[in-house]
Amino acid sequence: MAREFSTVGVVGLGTMGAGIVEVFARNGIDVVAVEISAPALERGRATLKGSTDRAVAKGKLAEADRDALHERVHFAVGLDALHSVDLVIEAVPEHLDLKQRIFAELDRVCRPETILATNTSSLSVTEISVATSRPNQVIGIHFFNPAPVMKLVEVVRTVVTAPEVVADVEALCARFGKVDVTINDRAGFIANALLFGYLNHAVSMFESHYATREDIDAAMKLGCGLPMGPLALMDLIGLDTAYEILDTMYRRGGRDRRHAPVPLLKQMVTAGLLGRKSGRGFYTYERPGSPVVVPDEATPPATDAALADGARAIAKVGVVGSGTMATGIIEVFAKAGYEVVSVTRGMEKSAKVCEAVKTSLNKGVVRGKLTEADRDAALGRISWSATLDHLADVDLVVEAVVEELSVKKALFASLDEICKPGVVLATTTSSLPVIDVAMATQRPADVVGLHFFNPAPVMPLVEVVRTIRTSPEAAATARAVCAALGKTGVVCGDRSGFIVNALLFPYLNDAVKMLEASYSTADDIDHAMKLGCGYPMGPFELLDVVGLDVSLAIQRELYLELREPGFAPAPLLEHLVTAGYLGRKTRRGFRDHSHR
Ligand SMILES: NC(=O)c1ccc[n+]([C@@H]2O[C@H](COP(=O)([O-])OP(=O)(O)OC[C@H]3O[C@@H](n4cnc5c(N)ncnc54)[C@H](O)[C@@H]3O)[C@@H](O)[C@H]2O)c1
Repeated sequence: MAREFSTVGVVGLGTMGAGIVEVFARNGIDVVAVEISAPALERGRATLKGSTDRAVAKGKLAEADRDALHERVHFAVGLDALHSVDLVIEAVPEHLDLKQRIFAELDRVCRPETILATNTSSLSVTEISVATSRPNQVIGIHFFNPAPVMKLVEVVRTVVTAPEVVADVEALCARFGKVDVTINDRAGFIANALLFGYLNHAVSMFESHYATREDIDAAMKLGCGLPMGPLALMDLIGLDTAYEILDTMYRRGGRDRRHAPVPLLKQMVTAGLLGRKSGRGFYTYERPGSPVVVPDEATPPATDAALADGARAIAKVGVVGSGTMATGIIEVFAKAGYEVVSVTRGMEKSAKVCEAVKTSLNKGVVRGKLTEADRDAALGRISWSATLDHLADVDLVVEAVVEELSVKKALFASLDEICKPGVVLATTTSSLPVIDVAMATQRPADVVGLHFFNPAPVMPLVEVVRTIRTSPEAAATARAVCAALGKTGVVCGDRSGFIVNALLFPYLNDAVKMLEASYSTADDIDHAMKLGCGYPMGPFELLDVVGLDVSLAIQRELYLELREPGFAPAPLLEHLVTAGYLGRKTRRGFRDHSHR
């Protein structure tokens, strides 16, 4: 029989604690909510009220249920109020000495059978537990932010946690509708161990002016389908908390440089820029605690202003190539009203591309997204050619040929001879340095990267890559074109992986390393990222879709260019590729897809 928890204590009513109180009270459990001082208690009460009021306004909670919820919560200053609860969850700031002091005190105040749990993200639950006389009744219950919304709970057992305590806590999680993954006590557990290297890397991109905060966040939201970008997420987590988590993970997790907090973070914390909770972090918020972002001095002007920034007028576009990307890009431009010249290496290839574009446009008609007239007009705007000479009068060329530097360089040298002055020359490369391609021409200032995502007609993101030779006008033109296509163009520097792949693939690689180390299973890791962080797919699902060979190649490129030891490809990934397990396309990757 699982233990009955009728009263639960929560210590610390900040970002996490207030949400945890809500989770319990919503599920009919009485809560004793404790803070360090009366003003902090009032803040916690206000956070709980704000959250439940929003739930009522959204129609997710009835007014009567909200009132009943509040009646279940008893607020108090000081730990003494916790003398008769069945379980305590501690959610005070991420400092080991503070948590140890609180656990020693809880051990004294609480009944001998009370379970003591910490919501720590990165500290050792074992070290916290030995501050008590009952380490076998100490456990980690790691909720995700916002606690009332996120489905995942990581249950952390130490080497001394009693099995029945683990079982009771698992049953409790199930009772309030959370999915738990139970794991051993390791820095960052599953989700944070995979998340924080990525978040810190995003901060370093921002710190080095590699891309703007808006562009970094838009890239990850639109390119990977994440619920929010990394800098907005840092603001939600709280920069002080994020700093402490990174610092602890760096020290506990093998001194991986990727967890060494980026210096900017410390500066922001010292300056009181803690994220949403203080009203300002990477973004500025309406008021402390508000989720509403307001414009500030770093907010970029609207897209129209980019046009004023020297963007050139583009009417006619050449697209070179006959693969998936070229086909999609032709469709995107033609649908947006541009005149398009498609150039392939032979009329046979042109006929194939033409068929593929027609099929895709027809699908749009069948789905009601396009009228027949629009389809015909789009097709009418495309001319098909097998010679580059037809690009003499276009305003923009988009190259989407095979991903080989020698081929692309030769093509750009030809374009340089054929195209009129002032043309913007763009490459869709996803991994080669754009500057190499640019220097194959006499006009590197006019060369940019336009990294479309697959499938181009669907994916809303384009990475606009600016080399050290790209002129502001060429970059502005590329960005204005993206806007005219109805896409979000994010501008970034010319580094391996641009924004999306540079942030995404090391995370996927880390997941493989975690699996390889037998810390958890592929299923639990996928669960953790989907339910704890709102990712549309878990890392192993995504790797199988992208292809393990493609993923390995990108990871190798990142490692070679950035020389970051933590980016070294996981041996397991290499072995699977060697064995021919490439993912869905070979019906086997991390999972067996032969029966699906
Ligand atoms: N922020 C997140 O996204 C997140 C997610 C999961 C877990 N966590 C973990 O949750 C814990 C709390 O983090 P947070 O972001 O909510 O921090 P926070 O700074 O928002 O809140 C901490 C609260 O603890 C209170 N407090 C401090 N000392 C206290 C004491 N002696 N007694 C009672 N209350 C005290 C503070 O007044 C404050 O309200 C940390 O261990 C953190 O790692 C955070």
